[in-house]
Amino acid sequence: MRLTPQDRLFVLTGAGISAESGLATFRGSGGLWNGHRVEEVATPEAFQADPAFVWSFYSARRRNAVTAEPNAGHLALARIEEHLAKEDPDRFYLCTQNVDDLHERAGSRNLHHMHGSLFQSRCVRCDKPFPDRALYEAAPLPTCKDCGALIRPHIVWFGEIPLDMDGIYAQLDRATILLVVGTSGSVYPAAGLVHIARQQSTRTIYVGPEEPSNSFSFDHILLGTATQTLPTLFDLSS
Ligand code: OAD
Repeated sequence: MRLTPQDRLFVLTGAGISAESGLATFRGSGGLWNGHRVEEVATPEAFQADPAFVWSFYSARRRNAVTAEPNAGHLALARIEEHLAKEDPDRFYLCTQNVDDLHERAGSRNLHHMHGSLFQSRCVRCDKPFPDRALYEAAPLPTCKDCGALIRPHIVWFGEIPLDMDGIYAQLDRATILLVVGTSGSVYPAAGLVHIARQQSTRTIYVGPEEPSNSFSFDHILLGTATQTLPTLFDLSS
């Protein structure tokens, strides 16, 4: 596929892009939620009821993410950004639903984690995120040095609003192409971005091994894994 000098690319990624790095997706077989219902771990109510359980879950995810490496899909997106950003850094924007840090480790720069970051935490009261790679697998649970309240993962849980939706919509408004990779299209508002893009005549492309729930809104569905498809998706020769 050729990119013209007018093209601005908005990329939305989901758990599927990290699958080939060994991080389980949420809804596939062997998915993270198997054995743990989403409501048991990814809601503010679950944290209030049993913070130790929620922290042990996210500590395990930290442990897995630390040993994972970016794959050819992450690296391909970083290369596409490098190519487009030569002329204008604003020609590429990557919005990920993933909380792992594989995109940044692959070299992506104009990157937004709409569902938060696995390696950040914040006080439930003061609300300011800070870097945190610690594992909280046994008591005592971490508390805020300033106010003594509990520290929680800086993750957007069910029932909470994803981070910087205004910025996301502004970026989508300027995009000429929306490329969506490895997401089941079942969690909103991320799953609704393609509907907006469609209404504003932005070209929409999906990459993944199976059709997402919102497949009817895409112009192109490219069935294949991220590492098979992304490295050759765009012609970067010119
Ligand atoms: P899902 O687990 O719902 O979907 C993963 C998608 O990745 C599926 O559509 C798979 O077909 C696809 N997939 C699997 N292997 C792939 C590969 N090698 N290459 C490309 N695609 C592949 O994960 P998400 O859609 O990301 O939210 O889930 C969305 C949100 O639900 C997550 O961000 C998380 C979860 O609850 C929060 O934690 C707030």
